[in-house]
Amino acid sequence: MASASRSFTRALRTAAPTFRTTSTRSARFVAPQQAFRQQHQRRGYASEESAKDKYEGNPNGMLYGAGALAAAAAGYGIYLMNPELFGQSKKTPAIISPKFEDYQNVYNAIAKRLEEHDDYDDGSYGPVVLRLAWHASGTYDKETGTGGSNGATMRFAPEGDHGANAGLKAARDFLQPVKEQFPWITYSDLWILAGVAAIQEMQGPKIPYRPGRADRDVSFCTPDGRLPDASQGASHIRAIFGRMGFGDKEMVALSGAHALGRCHTDRSGFDGPWTFSPTTLTNDYYKLLLEEKWSWKKWNGPKQFEDVKTKSLMMLPTDMELIKDKSFRSYTEKYARDNDAFFKDFSEAVTTLFELGVPFTQSEDQRWVFKSSFD
Ligand code: HEM
Repeated sequence: MASASRSFTRALRTAAPTFRTTSTRSARFVAPQQAFRQQHQRRGYASEESAKDKYEGNPNGMLYGAGALAAAAAGYGIYLMNPELFGQSKKTPAIISPKFEDYQNVYNAIAKRLEEHDDYDDGSYGPVVLRLAWHASGTYDKETGTGGSNGATMRFAPEGDHGANAGLKAARDFLQPVKEQFPWITYSDLWILAGVAAIQEMQGPKIPYRPGRADRDVSFCTPDGRLPDASQGASHIRAIFGRMGFGDKEMVALSGAHALGRCHTDRSGFDGPWTFSPTTLTNDYYKLLLEEKWSWKKWNGPKQFEDVKTKSLMMLPTDMELIKDKSFRSYTEKYARDNDAFFKDFSEAVTTLFELGVPFTQSEDQRWVFKSSFD
């Protein structure tokens, strides 16, 4: 059943109307800039023998020395151009003040990895990468100014081990080679940029971005319990998102991310996808909520809903609040009717979410919009 639905998903993805063919995408991918490797300064000590050659006017020694120097210089030149020939990974230069193009290069590398590694879940790491960015940001508390996307503190055991973050190691590991390729970017800027790339590459709206997050140490880990509990009701949703500074509109718009990905029994305990196309962002989540009949799933796991017709889709108790609560429902109906309205509000709410708790130097009107691989 699972594999049938995955094949269906892949078929849908392939048939999606934006005509993303592998060839056009890879043709558009810009290869990383000229390879470079930061050299650690090493102090050299001349041996007595070579000192003799150098200072006592030995012409052969000088010739050999000059030849050796030329060969070394040529070899070093080849090494600089092609470090992979010497078993080194391609790295970008140590950049003192990175610019838009540098971040676009990181975006491109993430998009390329998303395209190439289609062996995950329904064919994409996109959903779990987006969830990483959301869980890095969603710890924010507006009263104390703690938490949020500044810090990437989920790298450390206390926060990485919180129940809500189960499974997100897959996303962090997926991004590690990108961090190694672009060592100048902080983990916290990288994870959020990856969230932006995941949304855009899964055909969602543009998410404007600002860099400026710093990595922080373990003492900045937030306490457990700041992320939402899927078994709760509307007052819990309002308490959690209200703590971040969001209102009903943003809560419903952000939840539309559940058009993507799936629940895993070995992570949250819940099971299954919300939509038939879990690697493409659409307003299907709202449509399905309103148009399908939902009943409690009969199983040994935590309480969740399944669609009566196919029994292959799921909704969490918190998802179901979006049609039970009157105020939430009015937004759900709006987004089900109007995908453009959903994309606009989703983009605005995600932009705010991803910036929670970050002391930017770049102003809001200086946000960058990255090119997608299929633009
Ligand atoms: C009331 C609020 C929310 C609750 C209770 C909730 C809960 C959950 C749960 C239980 C899972 C399944 C995790 C697993 O088993 O792997 C999940 C997955 C996911 N959530 Fe949420 N979530 C909420 C809001 C959000 C928001 C605001 C976003 C993004 C903007 C988001 C994005 C995702 C994505 C993309 C997945 C799929 C991950 C995957 O496929 O591995 N969620 N969520």
